[in-house]
Amino acid sequence: MRLLTIIGARPQIIKAAAFSRAVAKWNVTHNIESQVQEVILHTGQHYDDNMSAVFFRELGIPEPDINLHVGSGSHGTQTARMIEGIEQVLTESHFEGVVLYGDTNSTLAGAVAASKIHVPIFHIEAGLRSWNMAMPEEINRIVCDSLSSVLFTPTETGRQNLLHAGYVETDSKVHFHNTKGQYVVLSGDVMYDNSSFFATMAEQKSDIMSRLNLESGQFVLATIHRPANTDSADNLTSIFRALLDIANTGRKVVIPLHPRTHKLLPDKLSAELLQYISSNPNIYIIPPASFFDMICLEKHASIVMTDSGGVQKEAFFFATPTVILRPETEWVEIVNAGAGILADADYNRIITAYQELMNKPIHFPPLFGDAHAADFILEKIVEYLN
Ligand code: UD1
Repeated sequence: MRLLTIIGARPQIIKAAAFSRAVAKWNVTHNIESQVQEVILHTGQHYDDNMSAVFFRELGIPEPDINLHVGSGSHGTQTARMIEGIEQVLTESHFEGVVLYGDTNSTLAGAVAASKIHVPIFHIEAGLRSWNMAMPEEINRIVCDSLSSVLFTPTETGRQNLLHAGYVETDSKVHFHNTKGQYVVLSGDVMYDNSSFFATMAEQKSDIMSRLNLESGQFVLATIHRPANTDSADNLTSIFRALLDIANTGRKVVIPLHPRTHKLLPDKLSAELLQYISSNPNIYIIPPASFFDMICLEKHASIVMTDSGGVQKEAFFFATPTVILRPETEWVEIVNAGAGILADADYNRIITAYQELMNKPIHFPPLFGDAHAADFILEKIVEYLN
């Protein structure tokens, strides 16, 4: 059985590590006729070493078999280049299925290309909704869900979203065999698989804590990359003013900066604010962190502040509370559990949320599966295709 895994953006490379491990494990325990051959296609959406190659090296993921090198561009340009390249790969060689992750432009392109030539799509991280159509990711995930054969959803909320939208739930082989329709399967979260699998290794291999001279529980970790924040001078200013004021209380603030944010900072912040930030000894602006460094930072931070979906979740896995720099989140379980507070890009709400999370006891119930989601997903894919 041949599967094409499509990745392109940083978080997908990380998610794919869990699936590749599941494939390797499967092949060790199955005879040659039942083996799964995974071919990895990288669209090239992320191309900087610290946004892409570092993760392959660190996580031991097989190098991509194909790289389309699409690079940056407007949504239309970037997605069109990807569709063209993926279509070519799928027509030149036979694949039983395509595996897609999350909600990026690479996911969208994979879904459009595969569906038009009738290759079944397996969507990992299906069913999530922000209910905010201004987010490119919301459009991407809705389109991908609607074109997928099996929608693997990580959470109960994702499952409910899909059932309300009229998708049929099953994890039964009999059901898959009846028709080749579209099915919802609650699978747990492959990111939780990875965080559990790599946590100890990350502690051993990462030297980020000593390199930055950080003490556990004594610093804030912040990441900002969403267009709604990076493209708005008001939003970016409010977030950085809040981070500056926290740094001025004596707390260190570590900011691994996404290339998008790095490029826009001088345009969007006043020269004065930029100067305060760059001269503040408690603010550490660093390049995008490797996965092991990021895991260590998330685990040891007192608070995470982020507009990233993945970072919200990883903070939760490591029992670190999060100030969410967005008006809404797909990971509502984290907010409902009291471990995250939505603060948008509002200075006052950020500071209040920070103070609240620093001062109250917080629980982190198990919400994201059993750390074996990828094994379960692979089993279901094989069932579907047999
Ligand atoms: C993308 C995903 C987002 C995900 C994020 C993780 C979409 C629509 N968005 O956002 O859901 O959370 O990845 O990081 O797919 N750039 C570089 N080097 C790189 C990559 C990007 O310099 O290696 C710069 C370019 O200027 C580019 C900009 O960052 O134009 C944005 O990159 P893009 O891939 O379009 O979206 P992200 O913001 O990374």
